[in-house]
Amino acid sequence: MTLRLGDTAPDFSQDSTEGTINFYDFVGDSWAVLFSHPKDFTPVCTTELGYVGKLKPEFDKRNVKVLGLSVDPLSDHTQWVGDIEETQGHQFNFPLLADADRKVSNLYDMIHPNANDTLTVRSVFVIDPSKKVRLIITYPASTGRNFDEILRVIDSLQLTDGYKVATPVNWKDGDDVIIVPALSDEDAKERFPKGWVAHKPYLRVTPQPNK
Ligand code: BEZ
Repeated sequence: MTLRLGDTAPDFSQDSTEGTINFYDFVGDSWAVLFSHPKDFTPVCTTELGYVGKLKPEFDKRNVKVLGLSVDPLSDHTQWVGDIEETQGHQFNFPLLADADRKVSNLYDMIHPNANDTLTVRSVFVIDPSKKVRLIITYPASTGRNFDEILRVIDSLQLTDGYKVATPVNWKDGDDVIIVPALSDEDAKERFPKGWVAHKPYLRVTPQPNK
């Protein structure tokens, strides 16, 4: 199944290191990051999973549940989790799906046969509380992802959902934002009492409204 931004994320049940996960129940009213790993006992994946464990408090702060996936059985996951904790120095504090039957990988199109016909690529899906897909990123197996960037996009999505703004290049939480062109100057005056700088009529920059 090919998923696109704005699509409803499919529900599923699958085994994990924390028991059977029903995805919609697991997510509840939170946001979610679902991300795949090509294989257990591989070096890049080991570093990624350790780092996500370190970032878990940052995901919690943003009301985001994290859920990893690898296409190996639970018995391998259990052993690998020990290696991850030992080598990366962080507690393994979120579930890892054991997708040995490829149920979830196929549902989310995480296996790209022309890259590798059995392993998953490094897929990331950010899903909002209404279960809509809000971000899709695909990395090759040999390149570890930047999970700080995933947090940055979540900050942008959560901000732009609440205010009529967009975030410019390399924006990070606290930086100035852009007033969406669809909003008239008249309406903007009410919404952005701190004012704005108009570099062009379509490029109006204002301080981040929730700071
Ligand atoms: C890794 O996680 O290190 C990895 C996995 C599959 C292919 C290449 C690297």
